[in-house]
Amino acid sequence: MKTPKRLEPLIEDGLIDEVLRPLMSGKEAAVYVVRCGNALRCAKVYKEANKRSFRQAAEYQEGRKTRNSRQARAMAKGTRYGRKEAEDAWQNAEVSALFRLAGAGVRVPKPYDFLDGVLLMEMVTDAHGDAAPRLNDVELDADQAREYHAFVIRQIVLMLCTGLVHGDLSEFNVLLGPDGPVIIDLPQAVDAAANNHAFSMLERDVNNMAQYFGRFAPELKATRYAKEMWALYKAGTLVPETPLSGVYQEAEVSADVRAVMREIEAVKRDEARRQAARAELDAPPGTGEEPTPPWMR
Ligand SMILES: Nc1ncnc2c1ncn2[C@@H]1O[C@H](COP(=O)(O)OP(=O)(O)O)[C@@H](O)[C@H]1O
Ligand SMILES: [Mg+2]
Repeated sequence: MKTPKRLEPLIEDGLIDEVLRPLMSGKEAAVYVVRCGNALRCAKVYKEANKRSFRQAAEYQEGRKTRNSRQARAMAKGTRYGRKEAEDAWQNAEVSALFRLAGAGVRVPKPYDFLDGVLLMEMVTDAHGDAAPRLNDVELDADQAREYHAFVIRQIVLMLCTGLVHGDLSEFNVLLGPDGPVIIDLPQAVDAAANNHAFSMLERDVNNMAQYFGRFAPELKATRYAKEMWALYKAGTLVPETPLSGVYQEAEVSADVRAVMREIEAVKRDEARRQAARAELDAPPGTGEEPTPPWMR
């Protein structure tokens, strides 16, 4: 096919030999199948920020480190330079997440290069060498669904152990390769420790997977892995092998209720003391007596 303009620099630099066909054009990016030597790879071309949808929302950006204070100021002000920096930071986030996750043993496409807003990565294929289907494109039997669900939960644990939450995990962003699920599409990945929305995003990711696999094995819909792994992560005891039950005992919640009750009692006591002190001030001077309680006046 004719080389799309955005891929020309990669051809010129010899990173790509040939663009074979468009694979998918989503809301955020266009993905092409390209040939590099005798290997087929995917080239992901990010759309411009104004053509993209929700995922650049502030809640995803929270806790991301900027390169320096000049970059941070420019991004906050929204100058042209700032928008360019924000754009680069967004695209780089996917590249660095892929490197970090691949290094930690999470099954993601192997990243090869990133140039001029194009990510060059391994093409995930099916058993015939064609581009792998998304979970959304396949039907599973109950046992496969249970097995893949357990695997994806383990992948989410691994990601959390490296400090990342995917943030947009769904049946559209998991491919099914011959060896099982492969997680893709990570520009919005959030920093688990620095982002206040990390837990709610983790819970949404985990629930999306329970709902999807639950179509084929309904008992999976009742699993509660997110709270369980988050509690362990917060306590600093989550490791890739930590066994999880999928059942979450709301132990912390009842502990919290007790703490709240104690707090309420303390506030009541303080208020009673304040009232008593005020009443003492109001009492006629010199009597030194206990003030008359209001109900006896
Ligand atoms: N490494 C890959 N191997 C095979 N197919 C891919 C790969 N990366 C993306 N795709 C295909 O392209 C689609 C869009 O890619 P994705 O990273 O999800 O971008 P978007 O932000 O547009 O959703 C995916 O749903 C998938 O079908
Ligand atoms: Mg996607």
